[in-house]
Amino acid sequence: MSELAILPVPCFSLLCNAAFALRREVFVWEQKVPEAEEHDEYDLSATHFVAISEGEVVGTLRLIDLPEHTKIGRVAVRQLFRGRGIAHKLIAAAMAHARQRGQDRFYLTAQSDKLGFYESLGFVAFGPEFQDGGMPHRAMRDYDRESAHLVD
Ligand SMILES: CC(C)(COP(=O)(O)OP(=O)(O)OC[C@H]1O[C@@H](n2cnc3c(N)ncnc32)[C@H](O)[C@@H]1OP(=O)(O)O)[C@@H](O)C(=O)NCCC(=O)NCCS
Repeated sequence: MSELAILPVPCFSLLCNAAFALRREVFVWEQKVPEAEEHDEYDLSATHFVAISEGEVVGTLRLIDLPEHTKIGRVAVRQLFRGRGIAHKLIAAAMAHARQRGQDRFYLTAQSDKLGFYESLGFVAFGPEFQDGGMPHRAMRDYDRESAHLVD
């Protein structure tokens, strides 16, 4: 695989627009998430990351700073580029970037069939399963791991 570049990009930039197009491709067209639910008000204040390979944006995610933790969301990798470790590297790079800014508690809501993927990054599921965008999800966090099962 050609070299992978991972970087944060400002909202409204060309690279961020490419990331939004990739999100539409993955979530709306592939996973049939209702288009109205794909973008929300957090897109304006989130930190967006892109993974670039072979000159194109092939992966993206966003970080949202919340009072209790940093939320990782909208993790997407272009279909042809999956299974090469891009999502893993993208999440690790975004978490390292946030840690440099003093954020060390990470949270996400995972599609239930992706729990194993996030567990490999140190996350643990907690709380009941719920529906989001028409798919079952679980909340996951990488802090207070010991007590997470208590709220299952
Ligand atoms: C989920 C997604 C982001 C993974 O991207 P990717 O670049 O293919 O993932 P990686 O190659 O970094 O995978 C890393 C590891 O997780 C594993 N993995 C990937 N998808 C998995 C899944 N659904 N369940 C369990 N493990 C999974 C891979 O096998 C790999 O394991 P390995 O390191 O032991 O080989 C990608 O499949 C995608 O965009 N899916 C559609 C959108 C989506 O579902 N987003 C997540 C919403 S919660």
